Amino acid sequence: MSYFQNHIDAMTGYVPGEQPRDRTFIKLNTNENPYSPSQKVAEAMMPILLDGRLRLYPDPLATEFRQAAAELHGVEPSWIMSGNGSDDILTILTRAFAGPGDVIASAQPGYILYETLAELQNSRFQVIPFPVNWKIGPEHVSGLKSPKIFYLANPNSPSGTVMTPGEVGELADALPCQLVVDEAYGDFATTNCISLVKSHSNVIVTRTFSKGYSLAGLRIGYCVARPELIQGLNKVKDSYNCDMLSLAGATAALKDQDWLIATRQKIWDTRSRLAAGAAELGYLIPESHANFIWCEGGPPAQEVYAALRDRDILVRLMSYPGREPALRITVGTDHQIDLLLKALGEIV
Ligand SMILES: Cc1ncc(COP(=O)(O)O)c(C=O)c1O
Repeated sequence: MSYFQNHIDAMTGYVPGEQPRDRTFIKLNTNENPYSPSQKVAEAMMPILLDGRLRLYPDPLATEFRQAAAELHGVEPSWIMSGNGSDDILTILTRAFAGPGDVIASAQPGYILYETLAELQNSRFQVIPFPVNWKIGPEHVSGLKSPKIFYLANPNSPSGTVMTPGEVGELADALPCQLVVDEAYGDFATTNCISLVKSHSNVIVTRTFSKGYSLAGLRIGYCVARPELIQGLNKVKDSYNCDMLSLAGATAALKDQDWLIATRQKIWDTRSRLAAGAAELGYLIPESHANFIWCEGGPPAQEVYAALRDRDILVRLMSYPGREPALRITVGTDHQIDLLLKALGEIV
C-alpha cells in the first residue's frame, strides 16, 4: 500500500546531472561556471555570518535585492520576485497557474524539469518538437489544447539556440496562456526578453545566478513579471524562500556588472574554440548563445561519454524521444577545454 497520491507514485522524479562526491572529474555536465564568483559576494555575506544577524528571519519580500534587480532591468521593484534558484520560481509559477488535468506545454528537446513540474501538479504535459531552425512560431502552437503555461527556455537547453525578442513576442501573441521565458542562460546571450514583460501581458521572464554569476551553490534566482502577477505569486511562494546570505550575495553580484562582463567574455572565447574543435570531429553544433554546446550526429554519444568518463571528464549524455542520444558539453576554463579536446581527439 502506498501513502502517496497516485500521480506522485506514477512519476519518476527529476534526475539532475551527476554531482560526484567520490571522484575528481573535469566537470562539464551541469553548466556551472568554471570561474570563482565576484569577490563582492563574499564581502557582502561575511558581516552577516559574523555579527549574529542569522538569528533573525530574512526579509520575506527581499526588498534590497528586488531594488537592485529592478534597477538593472529598468523596471520597478514591484515587477520582481526572488526564489531559491530559478527552479523554485518555476515551481511557484507551475503551482500558481496549473492544476490537475490542465495542459502545460513546452518545446523539445528542452529543460527536463518542466515535465516533472507538470507531473507534480497532475497536469498534462504537451510537447512541441523544435523544427530544424530551433524556432517555435505561432504555426507550431495552434494545436495546443488550452494550455495554462508554455515554458520556453531561451537560450534553450540543451541546444544553446536562441529566439529573438521579436520571435518570442510573436509566440506570446499566439498563445492563450502565460509564456514563461526561462532565461537561465540569458547572461550569455546578446538579446533578452525583459522588454516583452512590459509589452505583453502574458510574458514572464525567469533568471538565475547559477550560470552567469557563478553562484549555483547559493541557490538564488528571480522572475520579472507584471506587478499584479507578482502579487499573486507572492501568495504561492514560501514566506522565507530566500535566505539572508543568498539575498546579500546576489545583490552584491548584480551590482558587480564588470565581473559579469569580463567573465562572460572568457566563456564566449572558450566556447568558440570548443565548438570549432567538436565540429572538426564531425558533430553538428547549433550556434550556442549559452555556456555549453550541443553535439548531435558525429561519433556515437554513448561511447564517447563513457570513454570521457574513464578519463575523468564528465559531460552530459542526453536522450530525447525521436532523436539519437547526444552530448551537452559545458564551457569550462581554457585548460579544461584543452584537456577535453585532446581526449576527444584520442577517443574519436
Ligand atoms: C533552462 C534551465 N532553467 C533553469 C535552471 C535551474 O537553475 P537554478 O540553478 O537557478 O535552479 C537550469 C539549470 O540547469 C536550466 O538549465
